[in-house]
Amino acid sequence: MAYSATMDTAETVYEAVGGEPFFNELVERFYAGVAADPELLAMYPKPDDLADAKKHLAQFLVQYWGGPTTYSDSRGHPRLRMRHMPFRIGPAERDAWLRHMTAAVAGAVDLDRAIAGRLLDYFDMAAQHLVNAEPGAGQQTG
Ligand code: HEM
Repeated sequence: MAYSATMDTAETVYEAVGGEPFFNELVERFYAGVAADPELLAMYPKPDDLADAKKHLAQFLVQYWGGPTTYSDSRGHPRLRMRHMPFRIGPAERDAWLRHMTAAVAGAVDLDRAIAGRLLDYFDMAAQHLVNAEPGAGQQTG
């Protein structure tokens, strides 16, 4: 696969992994995990139709890692913490999200290990940043 190449210094992660298909496939694997996780899935406004959620996450990641700015062109500034405020994200939700994303990264066969490490470090940091609730207290508050 194209993304088996290691990065040279001037190259973006987006280029090193071969562009958009990598992120679309990553997001497909991630959401397959979410769809099989009833507690996490229950947080999603449209659990039966994750098409927009997939598109937005894939476009966001493409933009974040150096690809086209399609996400902000259609959605505006990411403001991810604000956009996640409607959802109750405590440590359990953070960990569930990260578990599925870690599995999705691990599912990228031939992915360069240094790039996998960068992706995982970023997801870890970003998920922690989106925590907006204390542990416990059950379901989302909406
Ligand atoms: C920490 C646990 C997280 C939970 C429980 C969570 C949950 C959600 C939910 C329920 C949505 C709404 C989907 C929809 O409207 O159909 C959403 C949207 C989104 N999430 Fe997360 N998320 C988490 C972490 C993250 C992280 C770490 C990122 C980025 C690295 C991320 C990126 C996004 C993006 C880009 C959107 C779409 C925003 C928009 O344009 O409306 N999320 N998330």
